[in-house]
Amino acid sequence: MTPWTITPAPLPETLDSPDAWAVLGAARVSADVERRTWGHADLTYPPAMLLAVLRDQQHVERFPLVATASPAPVSPGADDVLGIVDVSLDRTGNTHLASFSVTVDAEHRRVGIGSALLTAAEQLATERGRTTFILDSTHNRESAADDPDALVPPTGSGRFSRTDPAVAFALGHGYTLEQGERYSVLHLPLEDPALVDRLHADAVEAAGDRYRTVTWVDRCPDELVEQFALLATRMSTAIPLAGLDVVEDPWDAARVRDSEHIVTSTGRSMLVTAAMDQATGELVAYTAFVTPRQSELAFQEDTLVLEAHRGHRLGMLVKTVNLRELMVQHPAVRRIHTWNAEENAHMLAINVALGFQPTGVVGMWQKKLA
Ligand SMILES: CC(C)(COP(=O)(O)OP(=O)(O)OC[C@H]1O[C@@H](n2cnc3c(N)ncnc32)[C@H](O)[C@@H]1OP(=O)(O)O)[C@@H](O)C(=O)NCCC(=O)NCCS
Repeated sequence: MTPWTITPAPLPETLDSPDAWAVLGAARVSADVERRTWGHADLTYPPAMLLAVLRDQQHVERFPLVATASPAPVSPGADDVLGIVDVSLDRTGNTHLASFSVTVDAEHRRVGIGSALLTAAEQLATERGRTTFILDSTHNRESAADDPDALVPPTGSGRFSRTDPAVAFALGHGYTLEQGERYSVLHLPLEDPALVDRLHADAVEAAGDRYRTVTWVDRCPDELVEQFALLATRMSTAIPLAGLDVVEDPWDAARVRDSEHIVTSTGRSMLVTAAMDQATGELVAYTAFVTPRQSELAFQEDTLVLEAHRGHRLGMLVKTVNLRELMVQHPAVRRIHTWNAEENAHMLAINVALGFQPTGVVGMWQKKLA
């Protein structure tokens, strides 16, 4: 018998259920690991939000697996969870792909739990016909510039130490490093409050009269929702994807509404600013924040300018409008978190200009079945 039992996490309707032990345990392990890595648990879903997100299976199938000691406890509790892997399988678009996130409790490392979880995840994905696996790893610093053993993805951007546990783990399981993502944080209030106004004025001047912005909270106006779905579809492949085997993920109006519902029904709010080409009425750019209500944090989500409309500072335009609106609507926000491909020079330049500080790096690893 292996010393670890890997079990699908039950996903009961509420956290009051005795079956909620696995989700409560997964949230506890994730929050603890995040605190050790970052000094805060901003990036972890609180248990109720985690349960709701995992239960939302409409567009992505979620199969969270948890590790406990073996034999498995008869009546497990949250403290019995020693590690988790979240398996995500897209229902549309990337139906060849499986994405995994593995986290092992800091007190139970290097005894094979991560390997047992990853092996179970790969088996589950293979049984469901998935042939490409993507794994992410999180690091609070890049490898030193003079580290001769640093691992650099083929994009040439991002440096990872081979001695980092997650790097050794991914390599040991046959994964290839494809991409580095920069994790950045913008701290509010801004040191120079006039900065956003200056950047906004520059962007307005560069964009000229051709474009106007539209901002909405939580629900895209009905008359724009089809167009917004099209932008979301473009977004799925417009970001730099390096060697990741990702194809377009189609969105329609119903999916936009579903995603809005999952955000608002889990105590979060969405703030979107889009740019419209006034000549055609077409939406050509957008950016979005998601903010847990009554909290100090916000997440900078997608930003996209359609290719035909690049070079007019529309990225900076929608971002500065949205940021100003965020500061008005959510004055308690102190930290905005965001992730960008390390080779995404244009996006990073906008974020750096706004004051986002590089804080960490995420490795994107891939393994393809022969
Ligand atoms: C990465 C992580 C999941 C590994 O979990 P784990 O249960 O400790 O991993 P295992 O015990 O199964 O280790 C398997 C192999 O990974 C490598 N490895 C894991 N930890 C390592 C470390 N600290 N130093 C060097 N190699 C390590 C080794 O090759 C190890 O095999 P070995 O013990 O036979 O030498 C765990 O450290 C973790 O949760 N880190 C934080 C979250 C994270 O970064 N996840 C991304 C994973 S890609």
